[in-house]
Amino acid sequence: MISGDLDEAARSILRANDRGGYTVPNGRVYPFQWNWDSAFVALGFDTFDRDRAWTEIETLFNAQWDDGFLPHIVFWKDDPGYFPGPVVWGTDKQPVTSGITQPPVAATSIRKLWESAKAAGEAEAYRHRLDALFPKLLAWHRWFATYRDPDQRGVVVATHPWETGRDNSPEWDAPGEPIDVSGVGDYVRRDTSHLDSKMRPTKLEYDRYLALVQFGRSTGWDHARIAAENPFRVADVGMSMILLRANRDLAALADELRNPDAAAEIRGWVARAEQGIGWLWNDEVGAWCSRDLLTGRSSGFITSASFLSFYAGLHDAERDVATLANFDRIAGMVEFVMPSLDPADPGFQMIRYWRGPVWAVVNYMIGTGLAEFGDEGRAGRVRADTLELMRRNGFYEAYSPIDGTGSGGDDFSWTAAIWLAWSKGH
Ligand code: DGY
Repeated sequence: MISGDLDEAARSILRANDRGGYTVPNGRVYPFQWNWDSAFVALGFDTFDRDRAWTEIETLFNAQWDDGFLPHIVFWKDDPGYFPGPVVWGTDKQPVTSGITQPPVAATSIRKLWESAKAAGEAEAYRHRLDALFPKLLAWHRWFATYRDPDQRGVVVATHPWETGRDNSPEWDAPGEPIDVSGVGDYVRRDTSHLDSKMRPTKLEYDRYLALVQFGRSTGWDHARIAAENPFRVADVGMSMILLRANRDLAALADELRNPDAAAEIRGWVARAEQGIGWLWNDEVGAWCSRDLLTGRSSGFITSASFLSFYAGLHDAERDVATLANFDRIAGMVEFVMPSLDPADPGFQMIRYWRGPVWAVVNYMIGTGLAEFGDEGRAGRVRADTLELMRRNGFYEAYSPIDGTGSGGDDFSWTAAIWLAWSKGH
């Protein structure tokens, strides 16, 4: 049990990880700006410093490319403690960035920030910032519709496990097998010098990550070519649900800004997703799963992302019943929901990244979705477990669902942000 004022502890983490306009997820392990981390961090700042919350996302969009792409890392300053750094990515942009994106949470966060500014009577002061961000968010979502769903199926096709944010989920094992790692060469990882290697991806997984970076670089980060030729193309259930939700939020912002053309374009993407996302439903396991575009095979893994359909605003009586049955079964097996992999799976590992641990940000999305669906009981369990993990163990990157042990980096920005957001009813 940690003592003292947790709100103040969480705020101190955000202040300590603030590098001036952007927040590092954790100073040692992740010393740059990460895309979806910043979107969650903004929700935390919004509980005590509204201006700083908006700045977090504005800074991220300062790194947007001309085609709308928003990178997963922005290397505002170099740091030799991280690999693969700017030279390995070789994107040749200013600021220097990575060449892949990350789950599109920003539009949902901006809608929250806007609602909170309005509720505080500060709409006038923030309206011009919303006006400036809206076309950038729209351009990013248009980029997704073009380059991450080239067959227009209504899903998001990830081209790198890091793009999904769920780096070494077992969902990427089979789709990763054909990736040729023979040309990767020697390299020195930095993550395992900061953290126990038992928590981190294996050498084979890392080789695949780098082979994909090298492929992207060999195309000059040509998004059309990557969409057509990348050796890893998986319709990620997590990103597909998150984008569907984000498009609903972006459409609401378009209405707010009285921009009917944008609203119609965005609602077209929503309609396409509502029609096509059923492709990710796996009837055998009764769950939402990712699907390999290259083989057509469903992963068959039940992960924390399988429970994001409520957050996405999807409703289907039969699928909802099956999803909630899986929720209850898993909830009965762990002390803290929602493990990143079904504990009944033989590959479940309670501290290895995305093969067991609980992430506060995923729980925040699952809990928000369940509450919106009207399922107060399950939403309450998700929220209570998440806050209890932080109360007992502090603000870790992730936690064991079995005994609550912290996993990965400590003093983690997005975890502290979720404490602030959720304990303030955001
Ligand atoms: C890492 O370096 O482990 C990150 O997750 C990549 O985004």
